[in-house]
This record gives sequence, C-alpha cells and structure tokens, in this order.
Amino acid sequence: MRTVTTLPELRTARLSLKGTVGLVPTMGYLHEGHLSLIRQARAECEHVVVSIFVNPTQFGPNEDLSKYPRDLERDLSLIEPLGVDFVWTPTAEVMYPTGYQTWVEVEAITRPLEGSMRPGHFKGVTTVVAKLFNGVQPHKAYFGQKDAQQQTVIRQMVRDLNFTLEVVVCPTVREADGLAMSSRNKYLEGENRQAALVLFHALSAAKDLYEKGEKSAEALRTKMKEIIEAEPHARMQYVSCADFDTLEELEQVKGKALLSMAVLIGKTRLIDNFILG
Ligand code: PAJ
Repeated sequence: MRTVTTLPELRTARLSLKGTVGLVPTMGYLHEGHLSLIRQARAECEHVVVSIFVNPTQFGPNEDLSKYPRDLERDLSLIEPLGVDFVWTPTAEVMYPTGYQTWVEVEAITRPLEGSMRPGHFKGVTTVVAKLFNGVQPHKAYFGQKDAQQQTVIRQMVRDLNFTLEVVVCPTVREADGLAMSSRNKYLEGENRQAALVLFHALSAAKDLYEKGEKSAEALRTKMKEIIEAEPHARMQYVSCADFDTLEELEQVKGKALLSMAVLIGKTRLIDNFILG
C-alpha cells in the first residue's frame, strides 16, 4: 500500500487508478468507526483512497489541536489489510502553503449545535474537505453519522458547489456498552469512561419516550438534560431535538428528526446523536 504526501505524488497515484474511486477522509488515530467507512468504500468502489490529516483550521484556539492523538504507523497497519489503494497524508504546508487565502463557508446550517459552540469549525472542515475532494477526485466520499451536523454540512456544500460525487453516510459504530467510538475516547480515564455512557443513556431514554408516543421536542430535550445533569462527571454543552435536514430546533417531532448533544466528561468533549423517524 502506497503513502503519498505532496500534490504531484497524489496526482500520479490518482492517475494510476482506473474506475470508480471512494475517498474516506480522516484525521487518523483510527478506530472501528473509521474502518467501517473504509470497508463500505471497499465494497462499493473499485479503488479506495484514505486521507489522514489533522486539519489545523477546524480547531479553535482553545481546542485540542496540539494534543490530538496521532499514530501514523498504527493507522497504516490497521488500513493495510483492508485493500486500500493508497493513503494521502498531506502536511499542513501542502494544504495551507504560505499565502493561503481561500475558504469555503456554508451558511445557515453551520450556525446551530456544533457551530454555536465551535465558531469557525465548519469553515475549516468544509475548506479541507473541498480540497480533499479536488485532490482525489472521488466518485463517492464516505462520512459517519457520528458527526451528524458535519455530514449535513458536507452534503449541502456538495450540492451548492456542484461537486459531482456522491456522499455516503455510514451508521455510528459503538463500543459494546453503547459509547460511540471516537479518537477522543482515548482521553477518558478511570470513572470518566463509565460517566461517558451518559450520552448513550440520555439519547436512549429520549428515543424510548418518543417511541412511547411523546412528540413534544421540549419534553425529549428535558429528558436528555435531566439524565446528563444527574451525572456528576458530566457538563452539558447542548442538547437538541432538531429537524433532520435544516437542523432547526423543533416544537413537535413530525418527520425525520435528530436528537443530538455535546457533553464535557472531565475535560473531554464528546458528541453523539440518534435519528428519530
Ligand atoms: P475524524 O474525526 O477522524 O472522522 C473521520 C470520519 O469517521 C468522519 O466521517 C466521522 O464521522 C467518522 N466517524 C468517526 N467516529 C465514527 C463512529 N463511531 N462510527 C462511524 N463513523 C465514525 O471527521 C473528521 O475526522 C474530520 O472533520 C474530517 C471530515 C476528516 C475533515 O478534517
């Protein structure tokens, strides 16, 4: 399996691929969630490209860019058996050379939820993903439902900028006890690992309530809030019951809706979501 870094290396590697290409963008420190995306790409495309790049522009000044876990050797050994054609590992200089000044910004749907807590985050995500798409020219690109707003924002960008590729969204992969897999779970030590289950428990309780007939979005949000507030190691950033497509908060759940939340467990910020309807 080849690894390429520079744009000329990427172009040569890409030109050698004939037929459909699936791209799986990642920031590395891979887990089963990432690997499930790669397996789905492998099943649907003739060629698979994985990118690994911890994108500095999607981290805020007080976020964990410098501490973000990295282990390229381990990542490559996890990817190797999956039949990936090549891995693109650009450096920050390749992506953002001196004098860089072009940005991709999606408007309304980047404002609530993660956008409200992480100003500028989605501008960094859409910019880097547009550059990954332009570099790799995939037919399909694979994203996880784990990052619900991210996949919505990327689908919007693809429509708005006429990218001729299909965005494929894959289900959230969880640990046996329900914790959504995340590279940041590595930070959860001692009691915090158990406390992190509060996201899954709160989402499950709200979904149960909905399935028993509760259609008031406020009642579902209140249920999630109560469960999070009862966990001493957890600090809620937001809970939401929003329209699946527009991400606007709902009063009543009628069509497809997104239950989502961001919670600090100690210093570790976790997000999770369930789809209703
Ligand atoms: P990263 O957090 O590494 O995630 C890469 C992809 O894996 C994303 O599409 C994410 O939704 C998916 N993923 C993460 N955890 C998952 C899980 N438990 N189950 C299923 N899929 C999961 O998201 C990013 O990187 C970056 O923002 C990126 C899109 C690469 C742009 O820099």
